[in-house]
Amino acid sequence: MSLLALNSGQALIIACAITALMWLGSTEVVAGTLSIGELVMINAYMIQLFLPLNFLGFVYREIRRALTDLENMLGLLNKKPQITDALNAQELNISHGEITFNNVSFSYDTHRPILNNLSFSVKAGSKVAIVGASGAGKSSLARLLYRFYDVSAGEISIDNQAINSVTLNSLRKAIAIVPQDTVLFNTTIRENIAYGRPSASDAEIDEAIAMAHLKDFIATLDKGDKTLVGERGLKVSGGEKQRIAIARAILKKSPILIFDEATSALDSHSEQAILAAMREVAQNHTSVVIAHRLSTITDADNILVFSKGELVEQGTHAELLIHKGQYSQMWLLQQQED
Ligand SMILES: Nc1ncnc2c1ncn2[C@@H]1O[C@H](COP(=O)(O)OP(=O)(O)O)[C@@H](O)[C@H]1O
Ligand SMILES: [Mg+2]
Repeated sequence: MSLLALNSGQALIIACAITALMWLGSTEVVAGTLSIGELVMINAYMIQLFLPLNFLGFVYREIRRALTDLENMLGLLNKKPQITDALNAQELNISHGEITFNNVSFSYDTHRPILNNLSFSVKAGSKVAIVGASGAGKSSLARLLYRFYDVSAGEISIDNQAINSVTLNSLRKAIAIVPQDTVLFNTTIRENIAYGRPSASDAEIDEAIAMAHLKDFIATLDKGDKTLVGERGLKVSGGEKQRIAIARAILKKSPILIFDEATSALDSHSEQAILAAMREVAQNHTSVVIAHRLSTITDADNILVFSKGELVEQGTHAELLIHKGQYSQMWLLQQQED
């Protein structure tokens, strides 16, 4: 509408001005005070004046579009995250990497609880597995630890420091996550891996690539690790994406590692290889492994079995089999499938 007003305004001004000019000029020519040549010259001057006026419409449109973009961008920048540092937040001082969940309850919507009064601890340097049906709240647990959401009740602490009393930056630096669905940027494989720790050296990135068993895959590509992965990584397979995510986590070198069904899209052969690599990386690290296939976590120091947001059983693989509860049922079922 404003552009319409501008355009018709311009046209009106130009039309009126030319009419007035011609009127004045021609009366003077008739009276003999102005020559025809002078009238033509005045006309040429006028046209030079109107050209930029016409151009104004174009400039105006561009300015309006830029302003809309600017508004969108500022709106995004002004969005306040719901999760922020506490007023006098300290740096997380991580010495061992012990994780404690103390009576934690959580829900995305108030009327539908996801986790109920959950208490457990992950000893420093140990490997803890979390198993349970899909929708049991396993991934939510990882999100809480990373503080994508705050707990509704209870407290999560790392080395006796409540995670909502430390700075987000130091907390997230201390935890490397291989998420259930990996987000890749539309850039090269190498840069996607380097995102784990942008300051890493070339040699460190190569090491992470080798540990995540990406070398063979990269060798088959024309451009090697400079291959673009496409929007959201659509040019790599699910398994390759997971291995890129694992390389990222390896590169980050955090004291705490979380694998959220990190090998679910891999075939058994690659899975075994990756599991070996994961074991190697997880040495001297606290690791939480969320797993679907139970055969991948039989060596865990403690296995937590979740059902509907509650911890129903825990123990080592052998203990849980003797206990003959949900875990042993799931185990038998998966053995039969195999
Ligand atoms: N962002 C979200 N908003 C609302 N509900 C969610 C959200 N993410 C997950 N949920 C719900 O929380 C429950 C647990 O999800 P999740 O932790 O991903 O389960 P899983 O054990 O399979 O990893 C699911 O029933 C899911 O529908
Ligand atoms: Mg999940």
